[in-house]
This record gives sequence, structure tokens and C-alpha cells, in this order.
Amino acid sequence: MTLKEYMAARQKAVDAALDRWVPAEGSDPANIHQSMRYSLFAGGKRIRPLLAIATAETVSDSSIGIESCAGSLELIHTYSLIHDDLPALDNDDLRRGRPTCHKVFGEAMAILAGDALLTLAFEVLSKLEGVDASRKIELVRELATASGTVGGMIGGQVNDIEGEGKHPTAHLLESIHRAKTGALLRASVRMGAIYAGAGESQLAALTSFGEHVGLAFQIVDDILDVEQSSEALGKTAGKDAAQKKITFPAVYGIEASRKMAEEERLAAHLALQPFNDRARRLKELADLVVQRSA
Ligand code: IPE
Ligand code: IPE
Ligand code: MG
Ligand code: MG
Ligand code: MG
Repeated sequence: MTLKEYMAARQKAVDAALDRWVPAEGSDPANIHQSMRYSLFAGGKRIRPLLAIATAETVSDSSIGIESCAGSLELIHTYSLIHDDLPALDNDDLRRGRPTCHKVFGEAMAILAGDALLTLAFEVLSKLEGVDASRKIELVRELATASGTVGGMIGGQVNDIEGEGKHPTAHLLESIHRAKTGALLRASVRMGAIYAGAGESQLAALTSFGEHVGLAFQIVDDILDVEQSSEALGKTAGKDAAQKKITFPAVYGIEASRKMAEEERLAAHLALQPFNDRARRLKELADLVVQRSA
């Protein structure tokens, strides 16, 4: 199976799980379910669920039901995008090739759709079938911590917003990126590992992989914001410079940023050494994260 086929198959499985978890468009109150589905099924890359699934498959041959666990990451991610686009944050009109949630459903419903996706993520984890209670708690803790204020997504978003227009130091830059994006990517890998019953040394190696991929991911997101068109990205290009964001290109320039993303990719590969060929898909996903064009 090519990577493309592999990704399509896993994306389909994750989307089917998400479709089961999110109430139907018409179910009452219809507006919130419509807005949740509008953003969730707008064609995201599903990188976080793919990392979770590929990690679980690296650790174990039987990861039945991983799609729902992986889907919880996409619920949190989509919530974070809806809120990231709000006028009070990045004030974006375009996301995943469509007008942003608040443009279509209004700010109140977009805020609530984000809240609802966030809440649903934890409902999903609490209801995972065939997973014992202590493992569910570990999964909940991973996702909650990665989404939270201390080194997690929200903390990173706070520093990103408060950093606008500030002198961009290398230290601030790395801490923003590790938190706002890196934490959830790290958690994606760790949750896949925990789901599959990874041992301590396996989890440590995979955590290191997740951290390198996570940092690489946001470096590349920053580069694409400079280099790509809005059409190719499905979101507004050139926003970071316009909003004076603290980004890798702003601090180091494009060429050095590209080199740093490549270094992270190699470090990610290196972290997978203990798994040999079992980690083939994870290595391919790390390559994709760095070499993608959208
Ligand atoms: C974009 O994430 C926001 C960041 C955290 C950088 P993705 O590039 O994974 O967006 P989708 O899910 O494919 O739309
Ligand atoms: C957002 O980072 C990270 C999130 C937690 C959503 P960006 O603001 O760079 O994401 P894009 O470029 O709008 O997707
Ligand atoms: Mg932002
Ligand atoms: Mg943004
Ligand atoms: Mg960006």
C-alpha cells in the first residue's frame, strides 16, 4: 500500500468514527450540530489522528477501535481552529477552503461549536469500548494536558496572541510553537502509544519523535504562510506578517527555517530507531509533515 492509500484508508475510518460521534445535522438544537459538522468535515488533513493510528500500529498488531481515540484529537484540533479564526484571535475568513465557522454561523455559534467539539472529545474517550478504566484516564490526561494552559495548546495561543508585535526572541518563538501546536502532535503520538500498550522505553522514544514532528509541523506552517497562496492552503496566506506574529521565518528567515524543519525531521527519524521497519509509516508521516505544500 502506498502512503497515499494508507492515509486515505485511515482518514476514512476516522471520519466514519467522527460521523458516528457527532449528532446528525438535524438533531436538536440543529444549528450547533450543523456548525460542528461544517468545520469538522471540511477536509482537514487529519494529521493528528493519522499519527495516533500509525503509532498504535507501530507498537502493536491489534489496535482495534483506535479510530475513536484518534478522532478525539481531531475534535480538539477542529475546536482550536474555529476559535483561532475568531475575530478576537486571528480574525480569519477562510479555513479548510471554506468561509470560517463564525462567518457562516455567527460568532456565538462558532464559540459554542468549538466548546461542543472540545467537550465531545472527552466524552468519546470516556466511552471507548474495550479499553480499561485506568488506560482511559491516561488518555484523558494526555489530551487535557496537551490542550491546557501550561505548555499546552491554550497556553501557546495566549503567548501567540500576546506576542503580536513584540520583539521575536528565539526562546519565546520555540516556547509558543512547542505549546500551541507541538503539544497536541506530541499527544497524538503518545495517545496512540498508550492505546496500544507501549512500554516505558517505547513511550519515551515515541514522545521524542512526537516532539520533533510537532516542532517541524509549526515551522512548516509558518513557512507555508509566507510562500503559498490562500487557494493552495485553504486559509488566508500572509497573515502572520500582517499580524506581526512571532514565527520561524520572522526570526530566522525562510532558508534557515527550512533547514531547521529538516533537522527536526531527521531527529524524528532517529528517535524511531528502536522500532526498525515497524515505524515505516511514522517515518513517512514525518517526511510528509516537512515536505507538504499545504
Ligand atoms: C493548522 O493545522 C493549524 C496549526 C496547528 C498549525 P493543520 O495544518 O493540521 O490543519 P488541517 O487540520 O489540515 O485543516
Ligand atoms: C494555530 O496556529 C494553532 C492552533 C492552536 C489552532 P496558526 O494561527 O498559525 O494556525 P493557522 O495558520 O491559522 O492554521
Ligand atoms: Mg493563530
Ligand atoms: Mg491562525
Ligand atoms: Mg499558521
